[in-house]
Amino acid sequence: MQLNIYKDYDTLSQNAAAEIIELVNFKPNAVLCLAAGDTPRLTYTLMAERAKHKKTDFTRCTFIGLDEWVGIAPGNEGSCHFFLQTNIFKPLDISPEQIHLFNALSEDLIQECEAMDKLIFEKGGIDLMLVGVGMNGHIGFNEPRVSIDNYSHVVNLDDVSQSVGQKYFKQATTLKKGITLGLKHLLEVRKVLLIANGFKKSEVIKKALEGEISEDMPASVVRMHEQGLVMLDEEAASLLEKK
Ligand code: F6R
Repeated sequence: MQLNIYKDYDTLSQNAAAEIIELVNFKPNAVLCLAAGDTPRLTYTLMAERAKHKKTDFTRCTFIGLDEWVGIAPGNEGSCHFFLQTNIFKPLDISPEQIHLFNALSEDLIQECEAMDKLIFEKGGIDLMLVGVGMNGHIGFNEPRVSIDNYSHVVNLDDVSQSVGQKYFKQATTLKKGITLGLKHLLEVRKVLLIANGFKKSEVIKKALEGEISEDMPASVVRMHEQGLVMLDEEAASLLEKK
């Protein structure tokens, strides 16, 4: 795993976008798995600007969903689906055939998980996964104490995810379960970028990077990946001893 620290959120986002762009320029039909959430928002805006000026063509890429809130409709502005549509798929002009997200309204979520695992296998695996980190150290919805042997699965969200998740919704929303790719997927992707910014993430980043590698802190698992790249701004890195 490699650690890069940037002076601020803008520089971090430019470099995260550059990593994705470099891959897509090299492999236009790359399989990408990109997180929703506040952290990667600017990264995606920068990718969209690039697509708008026809400097990079993302239309041949395959997009795999990382996670979704169970029971939340794709049209709900707080869903990961809505976020990805608004921030990536529409601006990058991605056609529906290239997009594979969990149907979190499905009556058979186990089947959703199996179908996602099969699809990833059939696509030849994920080339690049971009993840954020939750305030409890989750990756996707791999909550603390998840097994690293899990592929896609349904989880009970812990209290932190249930309450922090409210920030994405216009009104108070019951968030009890999530559906997510697993840490086993993360360990099998060709490259993983973990990005974090702001002082609010500094404690969790310290635990993830300088504590034990453990399922209690899912973000620590990125250290097991040879092609793991952790990209932080100075605020998120502020508590680290080894920089
Ligand atoms: C979203 C996701 C989550 C977020 C994490 C950080 O698809 O997988 O794990 O990456 O909760 O969220 P932000 O970036 O909003 O701080």
